[in-house]
Amino acid sequence: MELGDIPDVMVIEHESFSLPWSEEAFRNELTLNHFARYLIMEMDGQPVGYAGMWTIVDEAHITNIAVRTAFRGRHLGERLLRRLMEWAGELGMERMTLEVRATNRVAQSLYTKFGFVPAGVRKGYYSDNQEDAVIMWCELPEELRGSGEKEGSE
Ligand SMILES: CC(C)(COP(=O)(O)OP(=O)(O)OC[C@H]1O[C@@H](n2cnc3c(N)ncnc32)[C@H](O)[C@@H]1OP(=O)(O)O)[C@@H](O)C(=O)NCCC(=O)NCCS
Repeated sequence: MELGDIPDVMVIEHESFSLPWSEEAFRNELTLNHFARYLIMEMDGQPVGYAGMWTIVDEAHITNIAVRTAFRGRHLGERLLRRLMEWAGELGMERMTLEVRATNRVAQSLYTKFGFVPAGVRKGYYSDNQEDAVIMWCELPEELRGSGEKEGSE
């Protein structure tokens, strides 16, 4: 993802989340946050999804993953998550974590399919409706782990 992608990302962001991040939040992620990694998925030159994570020491924290509404159910979310997991492995991450709304069964099902398991709950995590977040973790499979330089270990 580059700064020029942000207007397209905002369209997907607003379609996908009841608490969308601002343009400034994405700009900060791309320019100031040394731990942030974002990718965008295009189909025929059209942005159809994006995903991001923070890579810290040997753990990757997924910040968001979303597919344009009109393109859902075509295994694109799956491709995005797989690519994010591969990238985390290439960077030397050993495990990944995320928070997901307790009612977001679609996303939970996607994560479960890729080996994520629930590990706890953050009560009232989402400020719009005080919904709980389910915390999920996944040990990255050995074959995805590269010898990448770990970050944040100073
Ligand atoms: C979650 C999201 C990224 C999934 O993307 P997608 O491209 O629609 O999903 P895919 O077609 O790749 O499906 C992958 C898996 O997700 C689950 N899934 C997808 N659509 C589903 C549905 N309508 N009902 C139940 N499970 C579903 C299934 O496990 C599916 O695997 P399967 O096809 O083998 O059953 C997409 O729904 C989205 O952008 N949602 C809004 C944003 C969001 O909630 N992000 C997650 C925040 S934690």
